[in-house]
Amino acid sequence: MRDLFLLTADVAAAFVVAATVTATPIAVRQSAITLPFAKVVDTTGTTNIITSDQARFEALKDYGSAIALNSINGLPPVNYPATNEFIQYLSWVNDDVGIGTPPHYYNLTVDTGSANTWAGANPNRPFVITSSTVDTGLEFGALYGSGGVTGEEYNDTVTLGPLSILNQGVAGAKLAAGFNGQDGILGLGPTSLTLYTILSDFEDEIPTVVDTAFVEGLIPAHELSVSFEPTDFAPITNGLLTFGGVDPTRFTGKITYAPCTTTGLTSYFWSLNESITYQGEAIMSSTSGVVDTGTATIYMPSDAYSRYQNATGGTFDDSTGLLAITEEQYENLHDLVFHIGGREFTLTPNAQIWPRALNAAINGSADGIYLAVSSTGLPTGSDLDFIDGQAFLERFYSVFDSTNNRVGFATTPLTDAHIN
Ligand SMILES: *[C@@H]1O[C@H](CO)[C@@H](O)[C@H](O)[C@H]1NC(C)=O
Ligand SMILES: *[C@@H]1O[C@H](CO)[C@@H](O)[C@H](O)[C@H]1NC(C)=O
Ligand SMILES: *[C@@H]1O[C@H](CO)[C@@H](O)[C@H](O)[C@H]1NC(C)=O
Ligand SMILES: *[C@@H]1O[C@H](CO)[C@@H](O)[C@H](O)[C@H]1NC(C)=O
Ligand SMILES: *[C@@H]1O[C@H](CO)[C@@H](O)[C@H](O)[C@H]1NC(C)=O
Repeated sequence: MRDLFLLTADVAAAFVVAATVTATPIAVRQSAITLPFAKVVDTTGTTNIITSDQARFEALKDYGSAIALNSINGLPPVNYPATNEFIQYLSWVNDDVGIGTPPHYYNLTVDTGSANTWAGANPNRPFVITSSTVDTGLEFGALYGSGGVTGEEYNDTVTLGPLSILNQGVAGAKLAAGFNGQDGILGLGPTSLTLYTILSDFEDEIPTVVDTAFVEGLIPAHELSVSFEPTDFAPITNGLLTFGGVDPTRFTGKITYAPCTTTGLTSYFWSLNESITYQGEAIMSSTSGVVDTGTATIYMPSDAYSRYQNATGGTFDDSTGLLAITEEQYENLHDLVFHIGGREFTLTPNAQIWPRALNAAINGSADGIYLAVSSTGLPTGSDLDFIDGQAFLERFYSVFDSTNNRVGFATTPLTDAHIN
């Protein structure tokens, strides 16, 4: 299950440059590490997808606001981002992450929208203290859209496939709600998203697993890549996380990068500016937003959403919280084009709809056709204007580059596939 991929020439070259400026060379792996992960859909939940995604959007936005406000006038934070009820519907999990010596393996949600790694949410699988677990004496806490976690912050050995990351900050949950059987979170957001998670010192930052693996010389580049694939059934292990590089088998052509934003709420996240068009007409003017593996759909500001609704003829469907379209409207759908870093990333009509075989998972009718797009409920210019969620990330390979503070996207063999 674990694959090792050789470095591409570019990454290798970048590493050589980095190595030559290191005074005391450390043993460094010559390859990135790739781990598989699974898409799961749980149909036992009680709310529809919009409810859960919307709760996540609010949490993300509140978190950014809290940081921004706090940095200006020292106000306490209101909320923290991470996964919430969306876990009950659709999430990507990796059960290959071990903590401790010998490692205990946990089922963690892969989340680029938060940055703390923690386990023990499931009372039947508590966080296990082992010989390598060091109590930092710090208390960890994070609130989510509808639930949260508090626990103890430890330093411990984290095993990611063949990597053993030493002294990694991880938390063991004491109290957790809203995780529906999953063990916790693999936090892959920028380090700044760990601000406000150490209760005694809100300015404390906890290096992420990607940070620590890079600093310890275990991976050749300070970056992470994510490959999701579209699927019409779940659970299925079709995701790949690559630490320290990219997996050339999972994308086509070149990777186009866009700088992360440096001001406002979005700057704490994996973020970028982008615009969206449909049949050459503007749907969303260029604005700032985030890339989040924990959000199922694509979020647009309310005015953009109205234009998209107008253009597609969709009607708001209360059962799912998504726009429903008829078979005829589906036949008439056009490409939805995302403009990122000077390049066009095109979602075909088929890529814009929710996988029909998974309609039941979102309380939809079996023969319904739903657009995998949601509204933030706020007009363009509200700072966190869009979320490129799973519906986007299943069609484009994504790269999260900490060294250059940028995100990259590439097409994949399945970008245009007819799957939904
Ligand atoms: C699911 O759909 C039914 C009707 O299709 C609706 O009555 C019900 O409120 C929906 N459930 C949720 C949680 O939205
Ligand atoms: C992790 O969760 C998935 C989906 O619920 C499940 O299929 C898998 O067996 C779980 N793994 C472990 C180690 O519990
Ligand atoms: C935990 O690890 C961090 C980073 O390596 C280190 O700065 C800190 O002193 C460690 N804390 C304890 C209690 O060992
Ligand atoms: C995003 O767009 C805003 C407004 O045009 C601009 O001021 C900012 O520099 C842009 N940021 C990035 C990272 O492209
Ligand atoms: C939607 O279409 C109607 C009718 O053509 C038009 O009046 C309205 O301005 C449109 N709204 C948007 C947001 O484009």
